[in-house]
Amino acid sequence: MFQTLLTTLENGIYTITINRPDKLNALNKTVFEELNKTLDEVKNNVEIKSAIITGAGPKAFVAGADISEFGGLNKEEAMALAKRGQDTFLRIENSPKPIVAAVNGFALGGGCELAMSCHFRVASENAKFGQPEVNLGLIPGYGGTQRLVQLIGKGKAMELLMSAHLIDANEAKQLGLVNYVTTPETLLEHTKKILVIINSKAPLAVAGCIKSANAVFDETKDGYATEIEEFGNAFATDDMKEGTSAFLEKRKAIFKGK
Ligand code: COA
Repeated sequence: MFQTLLTTLENGIYTITINRPDKLNALNKTVFEELNKTLDEVKNNVEIKSAIITGAGPKAFVAGADISEFGGLNKEEAMALAKRGQDTFLRIENSPKPIVAAVNGFALGGGCELAMSCHFRVASENAKFGQPEVNLGLIPGYGGTQRLVQLIGKGKAMELLMSAHLIDANEAKQLGLVNYVTTPETLLEHTKKILVIINSKAPLAVAGCIKSANAVFDETKDGYATEIEEFGNAFATDDMKEGTSAFLEKRKAIFKGK
């Protein structure tokens, strides 16, 4: 169905695999177009409860934006390119359904930015993270300067951004950039196990957690006010009534996402 992506839907988990292994899954125009279509699918398909983004092949998650598309761009065109990337990654970050990165190798430049726009990250032990744009006379343009600081703190982020130094999966875990490190063989299985747990919870409450946690980093929003509103919204859901009744009746809740 897609030229640059593979997708599967199994048990409510939609797996999106960026599939340009000969180019280490570099993000070109088509990948962005198709990624946006999969994000429409995540939004509209009621069968999808959560999603995983990963890369094809044993070597790379995504080795960056496709450098071959950078040639000859003027300032305005480059800004439009950055805006397109940021808009797509903001859609991932603001998705009310959980989207998790399963990082199976190099996550460099736009690849690290893509992983950071996901709600959290699981990495295989061969993963490598970094923002090597300064090697090219560039800076990250898809939100990397912002999200790296948010996720690992300003001092270490500054060092990685300015030095182009790559870190391995274990260092990424120590820094809080990834939640778990797995073997390459168990990466998807491990990520799915976490999503099976999340998918069993009340979907609107999960969406409220995403919205409230994202508000921390949105200067146009008051995070505490967002939390109050989402807390109130939860009380208006059938799932909240079901969840609290099930607890009191000592049975397992059956959530409907309503
Ligand atoms: N854009 C376009 N093509 C890319 C790419 C990118 N970001 N990253 C890798 N590729 C392509 C290579 O050009 C090569 O294509 P070719 O076989 O047609 O020549 C293919 O993917 C394999 O990459 P190669 O460099 O041969 O693999 P390697 O194992 O020697 O090195 C990396 C792996 C990740 C260290 C290296 O590919 C690299 O540094 N990539 C660019 C990383 C980067 O700067 N990202 C930020 C971009 S803003």
